[in-house]
Amino acid sequence: MSPVPAGQRVLSGMRPTGQLHLGNYHGALRNWVDLQFQYECFFFVADWHALTTGYEDTRNLPDYIHEMLVDWLAAGIDPGVATIFIQSQVPEHAELHLLLSMITPLGWLERVPTYKDQQEQLKEKDLATYGFLGYPLLQSADILLYRPTFVPVGEDQVAHVEITREIARRFNHLYGREPDFEVKAERAIKELGGRNVALYRQARKQFQEAGDTAALERGRSLVTSNTRITMADRERLLGYLEGGNVSILPEPQVLLTATPKVPGLDGRKMSKSYGNIIGLREDPDSVSRKLKAMTTDPARVRRTDPGDPAKCPVFDLHKIHSDEPTREWAANGCRSAGIGCLECKKPLIDKVVAEISVIRERAREYQENPELVNNIVDEGASKARDAARETLDEVRRAMNLRAG
Ligand code: TRP
Ligand code: SF4
Repeated sequence: MSPVPAGQRVLSGMRPTGQLHLGNYHGALRNWVDLQFQYECFFFVADWHALTTGYEDTRNLPDYIHEMLVDWLAAGIDPGVATIFIQSQVPEHAELHLLLSMITPLGWLERVPTYKDQQEQLKEKDLATYGFLGYPLLQSADILLYRPTFVPVGEDQVAHVEITREIARRFNHLYGREPDFEVKAERAIKELGGRNVALYRQARKQFQEAGDTAALERGRSLVTSNTRITMADRERLLGYLEGGNVSILPEPQVLLTATPKVPGLDGRKMSKSYGNIIGLREDPDSVSRKLKAMTTDPARVRRTDPGDPAKCPVFDLHKIHSDEPTREWAANGCRSAGIGCLECKKPLIDKVVAEISVIRERAREYQENPELVNNIVDEGASKARDAARETLDEVRRAMNLRAG
């Protein structure tokens, strides 16, 4: 029995970068921990995506994957609630990627902003590869394979979800035709039962006649939250809301993660490549040492110089970690030069150390027993494959390919 309501699915992934830092935690992971109790969640390690830019040296990959998984578990992702797996253990991602590649115009991929940006940024690498161009398409396959309602991502990934929606639309347009579609869709509406029949018709009418997208969403959730209808009817009803095609691959929506600004020790965005991070499992002495040395408002040269919290990265961390009274105390003390920077940092250090200690404690079990992590992802891969198979069977049928 799943402890969360069936139907509304969430899917997201992360490239394996090794041990995570506070920026990763506040930017994504913390959000996942909350989502797992609200939706049926699939979270995976995108190790094939790591290869698109890091194909030359793969020695660290196993380690990076393992450490990131330990962080997920230690941060509170619960394998009893969410499905956690590694992309390369679910070869269905590759199969859907290949099939989608047949219908994806090259121009769509070349136009994705990250394509040129990343090539610019990673000049030392040869990214004029087939795999790198296909990055967003592989991501589309990752997503569409699970037919999620929502894909929680940060701003930088929105374009990838957008192309995913376009590919789904194109796929449904090409392969979602069905003889007697209207008759079957009308029959399926009745299966929704009771009040939902009228609510569905109303939502469909409002969307088709007035382009009311909120009505479309209401209609979709009426369909996706219904556990009695068959998968085929579900696709018909999702498709019928918008037009005359079966929706074999429903269009997912972005669930934009509200990301606080997490500055690194030098005041720039916290990032492994800048070497300015605080690790999610860093030891207390090191956290304390780093924060004590962290950049502050440059106006406070002497203890008696007043400062401006708005110009201080330490204060951005206060905003994330400290309670309201502490933040007030810090802001006032800063502006009036009533406190020094070290004094200001003290409660922050205590709080960050306390938060990290909980995570360190939970990580220990997995560090001491790596088999535990392996078992979790093996089981996750098997659950993911079951879900992926359902989609692929229908994709194959729609494309007139023989069942596997
Ligand atoms: N491209 C994402 C990133 O760099 C990782 C990713 C791969 C992903 N596949 C995904 C995220 C599917 C969401 C859904 O962060
Ligand atoms: Fe930053 Fe606090 Fe120093 Fe002000 S007192 S500059 S907020 S560390």
